[in-house]
Formats: sequence, C-alpha cells, structure tokens
Amino acid sequence: MTGAAPVTLVVNGTSHEVDCNPDTPLLYVLRNDLALNGAKFGCGLAQCGACTVLIDGKPVRSCVTPIGSLGSAEITTIEGLGTPEKPHPLQKAFINEQAAQCGYCINGMIMSAKELLERKPNITEGEVREALAGNLCRCGTHNRIVGAVLRAARDMGGTVGGRT
Ligand code: FES
Ligand code: FES
Repeated sequence: MTGAAPVTLVVNGTSHEVDCNPDTPLLYVLRNDLALNGAKFGCGLAQCGACTVLIDGKPVRSCVTPIGSLGSAEITTIEGLGTPEKPHPLQKAFINEQAAQCGYCINGMIMSAKELLERKPNITEGEVREALAGNLCRCGTHNRIVGAVLRAARDMGGTVGGRT
C-alpha cells in the first residue's frame, strides 16, 4: 500500500487500478504490476528507446513517464499490437526479415515504427532511419530493422522510397 489513492491506467484497451505512487515510472508498473514485460529497461534515462510505448498513439519513453501524468490516456504496449495467431504487419516483417540479434531493442523499435507508419504510410528509407535514430541497438542490427519497417510499409499498402 502507498497510502495514496490508486491510479487508474488504460492499457491495451483495459482499465487497471494500481496501488502505486503517482511518481512511479510507467515502465515499472507495466512490468512489475501488470506483467507486461514487452517494454524493456535499458538505460532508465530516456536515452535508448527500449522502453518505448504509445500514449494516445505517440511514442513515449515509459522509463521517465510518471503514471500520475497519464490521466485517462490510452497506453499501448507491444502486447496490444497483435497475437501469435494474428501478428501486426510490423511483427510479421521483423520475423520475416530476421531483424533481431539479442532482441532487447526490438519492441521499442516496433512501437516507434508503428507510429511512423500510421503517420506516414508512404515512406522513404531515409525517413525510417531518421525516425528510428533515437532507438539504439547495440547489436548493430539497424540495416535489418530498417528493412523490416520498409517491408511492413509495403505489406500495409504504402509506397517505399530510397535513402532520401
Ligand atoms: S530504458 Fe527508457 S529510454 Fe532507455
Ligand atoms: S538486437 Fe540486440 S540491442 Fe538490438
């Protein structure tokens, strides 16, 4: 018990009451209280993007987002994107392109890419690289990651251009 009133969070379309201090970072609540382990703890300092989730459709670093700041915002994590039976086109493309080594950065990459492709269905390689520049991959999987996002863009009916 925190002594404070419970905080209500809307995650992947479901409302949850959590008994946590409003200053608690969203990432901790997702992982420790809601058993949603897709968002990862990398740096804890808003520097790497491993913890990226969508808040009202915008990519946000959940490691530095206090739950008390969220109100009734819609939080979407990678678990809300697709299922093993019916994966999101981005999830399918990352598998088909084998776009992971250790995989630690991938869920954050996919969440950032989801917002990008919704905002810009017709896209260039250069735009994908720019949009994902803040999501770090220490395994050096960037080329395959960019390839997977471009493949998903095509699969979702968009057009794809080159580096510029
Ligand atoms: S863990 Fe949040 S940006 Fe690195
Ligand atoms: S695949 Fe290992 S950090 Fe990106």
